[in-house]
Amino acid sequence: MNSELTIPTLGYGTAGLQIEGVPLAEIASRFGTPVFVYSLGAMTAAFNAYRNALTRHKAQVFYAVKANANLGVLSAFARMGSGFDIVSGGELTRVIAAGGHASKVVFSGVGKSSQEMRQALDAGIRCFNVESRSELERLNRVAGETCKAAPIALRVNPDVDPKTHPYISTGLRNNKFGVAFNEALALYRLAASLPNVKVSGIACHIGSQLVDSAPIVEAAEKLLGLVNQLSAEGMALDHIDLGGGLGIRYQDETPPDTADYLAPVLRVFEGRHEELCFEPGRSLIGNAGLLLTRIEYLKPGAEKSFAIVDAAMNDLARPALYDAYHEVVAVTPRDDKPQRYEIVGPICESGDFLAHDRALAVREGDLLALLSAGAYGMTMSSNYNTRPRAAEVIVNGDQLHLVRAREPIESLFALESLLPET
Ligand code: LLP
Repeated sequence: MNSELTIPTLGYGTAGLQIEGVPLAEIASRFGTPVFVYSLGAMTAAFNAYRNALTRHKAQVFYAVKANANLGVLSAFARMGSGFDIVSGGELTRVIAAGGHASKVVFSGVGKSSQEMRQALDAGIRCFNVESRSELERLNRVAGETCKAAPIALRVNPDVDPKTHPYISTGLRNNKFGVAFNEALALYRLAASLPNVKVSGIACHIGSQLVDSAPIVEAAEKLLGLVNQLSAEGMALDHIDLGGGLGIRYQDETPPDTADYLAPVLRVFEGRHEELCFEPGRSLIGNAGLLLTRIEYLKPGAEKSFAIVDAAMNDLARPALYDAYHEVVAVTPRDDKPQRYEIVGPICESGDFLAHDRALAVREGDLLALLSAGAYGMTMSSNYNTRPRAAEVIVNGDQLHLVRAREPIESLFALESLLPET
């Protein structure tokens, strides 16, 4: 296996690039392209890295469903013992459909509707991560109507700089997320006085794609200060939720491995009784997945040459949205001299690019793999240009499981109708 490739179970064999025991060319010919391919072995290894790092403290992992919500993926994590971090009623429905237990679900997000609160209360979730006074008051009301007590944590905003892309940093004072740190104590006092909520924990999530432990350690220390103040007032918490955020290597980033990232955080809470909760998404699935696409056309140009592939920004939005980098590798190595290409899709927008200026020895009809696409790939995809969403496949050893079929075109407008004739 090639150590340069970010997916641990990916490497070149006699039939070109293969994931676990299966050549990507075989996956393309069986299921067509574009197709997302995930390695169960890589997912399991990523989950076990958390499990092994957390053996010495009471702890629970809540996989962040938004990273990849496929039922096959969710069922795999549920069987590994994961809980789930959700941000909508839709994600809760998926978790239950995938065999997850509501008692291992935490509900994050700044805009929970009353309907979503009712759904989560009926299901019996573990905790609502409440993000504002208004939400707390609404949850108390909704819980009262359903005659249930809602378990809550306040998501506090510790005001630390996670030093990541501005679109995915969430723990700064000027972000929309969480309760301001200096308002949290007053809000906890309010929560303790409300009849239909039960104070259960504290939560934070400072950002995503963190490549260093320092910001999360700073956040953990701030949280601990607040936890001590709360317990001095008789509010004992049963858990402390530190969110997700551990980054992965897309290009030349050097994030700590899971154990090294968590070790200094665990040190902050040494000897504490509260359960420690984590909500990782990207670090569990990002480097377990790739997007497999076929080159339709090579279009040489005076200044730039284009490799026009059958995947596009609707399948993988991250490059267009964040200027994100995904490694692009040829599935079948060739001895031809590499040329530099813009990797672009068929969508009618100049923003429809997947990668810039990559040296590749490829021909029309060849397959390319866009790596590190397991997280925030499929979940952020769309049907723009009436393009059916890609299929999804999980590889387990030499077994292939189609966990989402390619969408039939008719399904894209099945809910639409013509105007009546006048
Ligand atoms: N918990 C909460 C409350 C979150 O908002 C997030 C991610 C997570 C956990 C999981 O974070 P992770 O471990 O995956 O970093 N679409 C962007 C990423 C957005 C992340 C949003 N929140 C991207 O493609 O990079």
